[in-house]
Amino acid sequence: MSSDLTEKEMALIRQGIKEKYVRVAQTGSGGCFQYPTGAEGMRLQGYPLDLVKDFPKTILDSFCGVGNPFSLGPIREGEVVLDIGCGAGVDTLMAARMVGPKGRVVGLDVTEEMIQRAGANLSLVPSLNNVSFQVGETESLPFPDKEFDVIISNGVFNLTLNKAKALKETYRVLKPGGRLLLADMVLVAELPQERAGNVENWYQ
Ligand SMILES: C[S@@+](CC[C@H](N)C(=O)[O-])C[C@H]1O[C@@H](n2cnc3c(N)ncnc32)[C@H](O)[C@@H]1O
Repeated sequence: MSSDLTEKEMALIRQGIKEKYVRVAQTGSGGCFQYPTGAEGMRLQGYPLDLVKDFPKTILDSFCGVGNPFSLGPIREGEVVLDIGCGAGVDTLMAARMVGPKGRVVGLDVTEEMIQRAGANLSLVPSLNNVSFQVGETESLPFPDKEFDVIISNGVFNLTLNKAKALKETYRVLKPGGRLLLADMVLVAELPQERAGNVENWYQ
């Protein structure tokens, strides 16, 4: 939660996250993360790669998720899906394949450059016409109440300062009985003394 952070620290964290993901959008995920990304990361996370075997390699290479939200439950034909913190849109495009032409998927990300990259990736798969991307953030989702059947998110809530607010927003835009498929990182032990309180932990 954000309660222990000063305004100055929150501003530094937001700035650090922005700078990191502008860089990732412009240069690709390779070398920017301490876990496997790109097509290899997807393979290791057990993604259903057969579904997107016609996607150009450059799309899969822009994946920088920390897990596999699709391993948590099915996404069905005709459903309406939101991908929160979609980055370059790899999960968004995969979900678009799952819902088919009767469904639709929206990808949302706070970094404008990531949304541009996602749009460029979408243009490489002309058969997908059920996808849109827009800039926005977890803590104030720009959608009406009860809009989505399913929300997916991969590696984003750990970067969100006010997690309670973001989860409230997520719940608000889900239809009753809707599903949240969330992949993320959590601390399972105290940070070592020399790293605790270091704002750079947020965006390394
Ligand atoms: C680790 S990347 C994951 C991207 C994508 N989900 C994937 O799996 O490839 C985290 C993404 O979260 C976005 N992000 C960070 N803070 C955010 C926030 N408060 N609201 C929305 N997106 C955010 C970043 O711009 C970045 O694209």
